[in-house]
This record gives sequence, C-alpha cells and structure tokens, in this order.
Amino acid sequence: MFERALAQTAKQVDAALLHLLEPLGNQPVIEAMRYGVDGGKRLRAFLVMEGARLHGVPEGQAILAAAAVEAMHAYSLIHDDLPCMDDDDLRRGQPTVHVKWDEATAVLAGDALQALAFELLTRPECSPNPDVRLALIGTMARAAGAQGMVLGQALDIAAETAPIPLTLDEITELQAGKTGALIRWSAEAGAVLAQAEPAPLRAYATALGLAFQISDDILDVEGDARKAGKRLGKDAAAGKATFVSLLGLDGAKSRARSLVTEAEAALASYGPRAENLRQAARFVIARDM
Ligand code: IPE
Ligand code: IPE
Ligand code: MG
Ligand code: MG
Ligand code: MG
Repeated sequence: MFERALAQTAKQVDAALLHLLEPLGNQPVIEAMRYGVDGGKRLRAFLVMEGARLHGVPEGQAILAAAAVEAMHAYSLIHDDLPCMDDDDLRRGQPTVHVKWDEATAVLAGDALQALAFELLTRPECSPNPDVRLALIGTMARAAGAQGMVLGQALDIAAETAPIPLTLDEITELQAGKTGALIRWSAEAGAVLAQAEPAPLRAYATALGLAFQISDDILDVEGDARKAGKRLGKDAAAGKATFVSLLGLDGAKSRARSLVTEAEAALASYGPRAENLRQAARFVIARDM
C-alpha cells in the first residue's frame, strides 16, 4: 500500500540523512542544516527509490540520490521562507530556520545543504560508475539552477509585482521550474543510475510535478494549516501567479486531475510494477499536507 511505502521510505531517508550529517559536528549552522532537512513527506526521495526499484538499482545506492534531492529541496524551502522571499515563520509544523536561528544562519545552512547534495552524488556508494555520478550531478545542477528551480523561484517573485497577470503558458513555465525540475530529477534518477531510458519516467514526472504545485496552490486556498504545517492563505495576498489565480479553484482542480491521468498513462510500459508511482500521482492531488 502506497502510504506504508511512503512512510517506509521516509524512515529510510531520515536515518540516512542523520547518518550523513553526523560527522559534520554541531556548529549552529550544522544544527540548522539538521533542523531544516528534518521532516517533510519525502515525496522526492520516494520517487528516487521507486524509480530505482523499477530498474533493479540496489537500495544502498539509491538512498544517496534520495538523500541528495531531499537536501537540495530542504535548502530551497529554507531560502523560500526567508523574509526577502515568502517571509514565512512556520515550516513542517516548526518555526522556520531564520526564526529559530537568524537570517545569516538560514542562508548559510541552505547554501551548505545545496553543496552537500552535490557532494553526496560524488560518492562511489551512489554509483560505482563515475559516468553515472557525473550524469546525476550535471542533471541536478540543471534542475536546481538558473534554468530550473532558481528560475522558477525568480519568476514566482517577479510575478508578485508584474503589471499584467501571467498567461497560462507563463505560469506553466514558472511552475515547471519552481517545483517541476527537482521532481523530474527525482523520478528520472533510477533510470540514470541503471543507465536505462529515462523518457517514460520523465513524462510521468513532468505531469506529476505540475499537478503537485497546482495542489500546493489549492492547499494554500483551502487547506488546513495544522495539517500542512505551514501558513496558508498567503498566495493571493502576495499576488502570486498560480493556476488558482488564473483558472479559479475548480479549473485548477480539473487541470490537476487531467495531469494525474497523464502521469499514470506515461507509466504504461512498466505495467503493474509501477503501481506505487501511480498511487503517488493520485496522492499528490488528494493530500492535505
Ligand atoms: C513544498 O514541498 C514546496 C513546494 C515545492 C510546493 P513539499 O510539499 O514536498 O514539502 P515537504 O518536503 O513535504 O515539507
Ligand atoms: C516553494 O514554493 C518552491 C521552492 C521552494 C522551490 P511555495 O512557496 O509555493 O512553497 P510553500 O507553499 O512555501 O511550501
Ligand atoms: Mg515561494
Ligand atoms: Mg513559500
Ligand atoms: Mg505554496
């Protein structure tokens, strides 16, 4: 069952991250890294582990890629919550890193988590094949950087003060970068580790990533902050460009549903073995956190 598999992966990746951060000591910035990476649904780790399982990649290898993407994601959240970005004081049910420590520590803990993500992918435990490690590092750099997540975040912030609302195409581009790029990397990592064709997982993840951000935007409007573990109802006030702002709640929900159908269809070649990934797609739009 999907929920159990997700919880199992969360436990595995939590333990791996604790272990990987253990040798770094206990300077405040290191404690802030531990704190910032803690918790979360671990959906990206789950996509890595499932994609790897589908391609026969050993768990001991995939867990490094799973930990890497969760470290990268945690960095993006720590910075997303800063006063100069979304200015949020609650994340994963806890005070945000800059509230618990200070802004400098939050910037640096995020920076160090990003560096850690790349460093984990250089380790031979991740793959004995250096070409594979290089491929993972290169694709991660593109997913996280100026053509991926950072671009999406920049477009997100710019849209707050744009004189005319974004078009559907522009919002799609924004969300594909902001959230889609790391989700795509996660889903493809198993195929990259196995040196297999990543196209079906890429098609799955492209639809899934968009559905995921649409559901995040819907949660912001009608979610329960206690369950989500973060402040909600802020996007409209901040003037964020979202599918909800453009299509309304019903339009956004129907777009998310068709994306889930698209994501499931992309997995056809894997047959019943991809059932967990199909359920992950349904979870993404049914979740309340
Ligand atoms: C939240 O991501 C930020 C977005 C990219 C929309 P998640 O909803 O995956 O956050 P965690 O990791 O479970 O806390
Ligand atoms: C955050 O998107 C995306 C990244 C951190 C890359 P949001 O700003 O919508 O995420 P929440 O709603 O704060 O979790
Ligand atoms: Mg944001
Ligand atoms: Mg935010
Ligand atoms: Mg949001």
